[in-house]
Amino acid sequence: FNLVVLVSGNGSNLQALIDACASSALPNTRITHVISNRKAAYGLERAAKASIPTTYHNLVAYKKKHPQDEQGTAAARTEYDADLAKIILALDPRPDVIVCAGWMHILTPDFLNPIASQGVRVINLHPALPGEFAGAGAIERAWEAGQKGEIKRTGVMIHEVIAEVDAGDAIVTEEVPLRQEESLDDLEERIHKVEHGLIVEGTRRTLAKIKP
Ligand code: GRF
Repeated sequence: FNLVVLVSGNGSNLQALIDACASSALPNTRITHVISNRKAAYGLERAAKASIPTTYHNLVAYKKKHPQDEQGTAAARTEYDADLAKIILALDPRPDVIVCAGWMHILTPDFLNPIASQGVRVINLHPALPGEFAGAGAIERAWEAGQKGEIKRTGVMIHEVIAEVDAGDAIVTEEVPLRQEESLDDLEERIHKVEHGLIVEGTRRTLAKIKP
């Protein structure tokens, strides 16, 4: 099986997938390309170290081609997403699954529709449980709610990507109990460890659903 991984930052979840492909955790599976929307994403370094081809897909270049107003920004994002789909669908071999691993750019139907029309699945890691803390800063919002005693646990999920942010069907979830007086850093560390296991399990389950 072939994976394309989208990253925006450190790439620790990409690293978990790289290691899983190298071990028997994801048999007969390889990451054929890594794409980032951020030039400085360390995930691009991790890919290069693993001899995986990378692409920096630069939104600023698209924004410069359009007026700096609302319509211009919307047009830039449409082109950006449509081109991202073209880049991925032009890869040979074509990916079976696109894994968003710490990817911080909302994917619109301009990306999702052409990808789905070619039968390519898109899954996403989100550090919260289904229906909770959608969007950025999920771990911090869960931590704050925990500190206020509003919730006793948060969690991590891998889900199918649909146009609504962090709202697609869950593929696998894992709860993470919250601890009184725990620092945000310590909670983040515990959550990232859970992410690294879940990103592999979620990818494995998604691949298992693909008829060879
Ligand atoms: C994840 O919680 C992800 O949702 C957020 O950063 C964390 C790990 O990203 N964007 P990475 O895989 O280490 O880049």
